[in-house]
Amino acid sequence: MTKDELKNLTNQVVDLSREIGSWMKMQRTHEDTAELKTPNNLVTFVDKESERRFAEGLSAILPEAGFVAEEGTGEKKEGGYNWVIDPLDGTTNFVHGVPVWCTSIGLAFGKQPILGVIFDPNSNEMYAASKGNGATLNGQAIHVSAIKNLSASLLATGFPYDDFGREEQYLRLFQTLMHRTRGMRRLGSAALDMAWVACGRFDGFYEYGLNPWDVAAGTIIVQEAGGKVTEFSDGHNPIFGDDINCTNGLVHQELAEIIVEYF
Ligand code: IPD
Ligand code: CA
Ligand code: CA
Repeated sequence: MTKDELKNLTNQVVDLSREIGSWMKMQRTHEDTAELKTPNNLVTFVDKESERRFAEGLSAILPEAGFVAEEGTGEKKEGGYNWVIDPLDGTTNFVHGVPVWCTSIGLAFGKQPILGVIFDPNSNEMYAASKGNGATLNGQAIHVSAIKNLSASLLATGFPYDDFGREEQYLRLFQTLMHRTRGMRRLGSAALDMAWVACGRFDGFYEYGLNPWDVAAGTIIVQEAGGKVTEFSDGHNPIFGDDINCTNGLVHQELAEIIVEYF
């Protein structure tokens, strides 16, 4: 696909995300209407209906692409194009009325994300990027921060909520970073954490136990904004691995060296 073709696809995904995200914002859910997929992992009719709408719209935009979607729509196409869909990232916030959640749509070719769109309907912020075309927030070019050291960094992370296998290591790492950074935040939406690294609000983000749909769009948006995304171990397949180190690039090595002391 050429850069112009990718840009054109991105614009279509932006329009679709705005339409579906606006519908989602109008919906009201309550804990009583949410189901548990696994302990502490909620799903609502809004997750399911928005995924259905995304799948329908995205099939029309690129019919040959397969799907890797959180609520189970479609089949993955090995080696080809796949839409990587998290229709609602931040469901726990959504259910509790905390206005920090978003839609997150990536397009991967093989294992590499080539297009990403993250829409936050509550702040009306649309993040978009495609390979070679840069990253934008509401149409304006964005860039990661210029902070060079962890000591001056604001970091985001996600707390384990149903995979407690690495809890001890996670807490020890968290404690160290509390001392070595300017501050730590936990928004409750991995996609927004990454979008906020891309636009320079956060200098880095790390989490384990993630899925491709949490990070596919964020990965290409951060890369196109000048940042770096790897696994904890510095592997370069962050979207299909299950842990992620995502930074402005400048603090990447320093954060990676601390992470591997614990993981
Ligand atoms: C979750 C959010 C959260 C992260 C979890 C994800 P969901 O996604 O991104 O911030 O800590 O690991 O599963 O379930 O709300 O789509
Ligand atoms: Ca998610
Ligand atoms: Ca989700």
